[in-house]
Amino acid sequence: MTQLERIGVSLDKKLLSMFDKLIGEQGYQSRSEAIRDLVRRQLSEERLGDPQAKAVAAVFLVYDHHATKLTKSLIELQHTHMTSATIQVISSLHVHLDKHDCLEVIVLKGRVSEINHVAERILSMKGVKLGRVNVVAT
Ligand code: NI
Repeated sequence: MTQLERIGVSLDKKLLSMFDKLIGEQGYQSRSEAIRDLVRRQLSEERLGDPQAKAVAAVFLVYDHHATKLTKSLIELQHTHMTSATIQVISSLHVHLDKHDCLEVIVLKGRVSEINHVAERILSMKGVKLGRVNVVAT
């Protein structure tokens, strides 16, 4: 079991009241849980600055499946990285949005530098209409 240590934090009243309002809206049950998440998030973001840090990422993209070359390139790229030592495609999700557009979520696991490199390659492919990458250091 994780050992807990209690700390005391001094905040001015206005700042604390704004913090309480925010975490209330977000659904937190306690200040401690909200502060723990803030600390974890900050530490994770700090680690993203290290290209060698281990991370996972979700690459979201919307594209027209009639761009057949893109579909082929996406599949090829994912198969290539299935067994790579430095980065892996661990999962993907495909949703047919309407008659033309598809949403694909590709989950990558590996070093930060490799993830950024592969994500940029995916998002810069011709035919990608919208794209976004969400990286979290693990
Ligand atoms: Ni589709």
